Amino acid sequence: MTVHYVADADDIPEGGHTVVTIEGRSIGIYRVQGEYYALHNYCPHQGAPMCAGYVSGTTLPSGVYEYEYGRAGEILRCPWHGWEFDIRTGKSLFSDKVRVRAYPVHVKDGKIGVELAPQSSKASGVHQ
Ligand code: FES
Repeated sequence: MTVHYVADADDIPEGGHTVVTIEGRSIGIYRVQGEYYALHNYCPHQGAPMCAGYVSGTTLPSGVYEYEYGRAGEILRCPWHGWEFDIRTGKSLFSDKVRVRAYPVHVKDGKIGVELAPQSSKASGVHQ
């Protein structure tokens, strides 16, 4: 495991994100309620650049024909077909088996570090 310090914490405002490239991987770093999360910039559906998607909330479980909105700022919506993912975990909102790869984040002396495992021969970004 290697931690790559790639951004200043102060450069990402609350609710914002930045995209960095580490060892050839495009990774988005998001700030949600003061915490930082890193996601692979690659949708497990058809490979869209996830970080071009909107950060939003989603509809919550509710009664028939009732639409309750919640979790504002916690959901990343793919820009191609609208699949929704939890920024904190990378998990899709519709299946525990579909997720965007999430990376551990470290904050040290005002710098944000993303922890990467050594590259394997498997394709990254899809965990099914
Ligand atoms: S490519 Fe992301 S939902 Fe289709």
